[in-house]
Amino acid sequence: MALLTVKDLAVRFETHHGTVRAVDGISFDMEEGETLGLVGESGSGKSVTNLALLGLIPSPPGVMSGQVHFDGQEISALSEPELRKVRGNRIAMIFQDPMTSLNPLLTIGRQMTEVLELHKGRSRSEALRLSATGLGEVGLSEPEKRLAQYPHELSGGMRQRVMIAMGLLCEPRLLLADEPTTALDVTIQAQILELMAEVQRKHGTAIILVTHDLGVVAGTADRVAVMYAGRIVEEGPTSQLFQTPHHPYTQGLLSSVPRLDSDTSHDLSSIPGTPPDLADMPSGCAFAPRCPIAQPECTKTRPGLLPSGIAGRSNACPLAASPSQTEARP
Ligand SMILES: Nc1ncnc2c1ncn2[C@@H]1O[C@H](COP(=O)(O)OP(=O)(O)OP(=O)(O)O)[C@@H](O)[C@H]1O
Ligand SMILES: [Mg+2]
Repeated sequence: MALLTVKDLAVRFETHHGTVRAVDGISFDMEEGETLGLVGESGSGKSVTNLALLGLIPSPPGVMSGQVHFDGQEISALSEPELRKVRGNRIAMIFQDPMTSLNPLLTIGRQMTEVLELHKGRSRSEALRLSATGLGEVGLSEPEKRLAQYPHELSGGMRQRVMIAMGLLCEPRLLLADEPTTALDVTIQAQILELMAEVQRKHGTAIILVTHDLGVVAGTADRVAVMYAGRIVEEGPTSQLFQTPHHPYTQGLLSSVPRLDSDTSHDLSSIPGTPPDLADMPSGCAFAPRCPIAQPECTKTRPGLLPSGIAGRSNACPLAASPSQTEARP
């Protein structure tokens, strides 16, 4: 049994400009201890996917549908009080922007101990001790002093590390990490990634890692899912997908990446054109207007994600479906 099964997950936002289809029917599984890299251009639906997994879509304007099964429970059917027992506990999330998720009115210590008191029934003194240990583990100096400070007294990088320590406090089974290291310098970034890997080894934590840095994905993810305009357009084991990307969008993303095994960071390359307006999607394949190999039939029906005939791989481009057509990149 998979730890997480997501089926036909969709999130739309009813706005003044129309219905924004932020996530448009995605399905995937995750095993215990696995890392899934989620990549795609800005606005492709990565953060909304993560928020939806935790039932955190603001409603209105958001409307969510589909099923999320996690650890024997249908998360998508839970009430808000039941969801609160899961969030920050069995599923933890490290958000893109720590300032929006740390409470400016409470000390770091108060916010961390609350998590442990609520989910693990720890006493205040025990919770304080565990929180200090957690802060030390993410490389913060003088953890006891940090516990007494408020978020605004810390630098951006320090706040991000506090978020990560909070995410790991309850030893979650699933960690949703949305650009967890983007704001940090490379040394700290490597340290945090190593820490996440250690937690994963120790507790079998599954991790969904959203990042713009393909070097980070190549170094940490077992599998990669590529999102475009609210859908997964290609999925597969990391090394295979990087070596022979099938979907033209994935090929575009990877085309300017010189060497994935070098230690410099690689941002997604820019593909000519812009992603479609999610409130006014073109008919057919959403990538067709920017696609170098598009044919007239591509604008008729929107293709779904299908197995590509190679174990563990799938892609949503019928024209790229045959692996023999796709040469390994130099
Ligand atoms: N509350 C909201 N109301 C209306 N639209 C929203 C709302 N939240 C997100 N969206 C839209 O949903 C789409 C997907 O957003 P999302 O934040 O998931 O993108 P992303 O892939 O995480 O991008 P980035 O890489 O920039 O973080 C965007 O078009 C965004 O404008
Ligand atoms: Mg995002």
